[in-house]
Amino acid sequence: MDGMPGKLISRVLAATACPVLIAAAAAAEPARTGPSVEALSFNCYTCHGPDGRSPAAMPSLQGKHADYLLRRLLEFKQGKGHPTIMDRIARGYSDEELASIAAYIAAQTPAAGEPR
Ligand code: HEC
Repeated sequence: MDGMPGKLISRVLAATACPVLIAAAAAAEPARTGPSVEALSFNCYTCHGPDGRSPAAMPSLQGKHADYLLRRLLEFKQGKGHPTIMDRIARGYSDEELASIAAYIAAQTPAAGEPR
């Protein structure tokens, strides 16, 4: 009987240890400045297809050079080229984010056997 309070306490500790450890691990993570370039680029894939490879009328981004993509994005941001929607999308990102997205998308290569 005299062991009960001790057992109870260790059970309570065991039940709470996990969340405490998780909180500690989360606090130890380096500070993030925003979503990853991957996450940002995935927004583009809803219209431009997976990895920027569009199967339909939407212009494909895959296989295009990072400099070209960035130039187009910066032009859209300024409203150049009579965009229907890309001006509004491009304005949602900083120039640095657009450069990272352009580099990321340009680095995607088609899976084996897929047309460019
Ligand atoms: C809602 C659909 C939609 C989304 C989301 C979208 N785009 Fe577009 N994109 C378009 C359309 C439509 C065009 C053709 C220009 C226009 O009408 O605005 C285009 C054109 C482009 C072009 C020019 C292609 C070329 O060959 O000149 C680039 C580059 C581009 N988009 C990049 C992006 C990037 C990068 C993102 C994500 C940050 C993105 N787009 C998100 C619809 C979209």
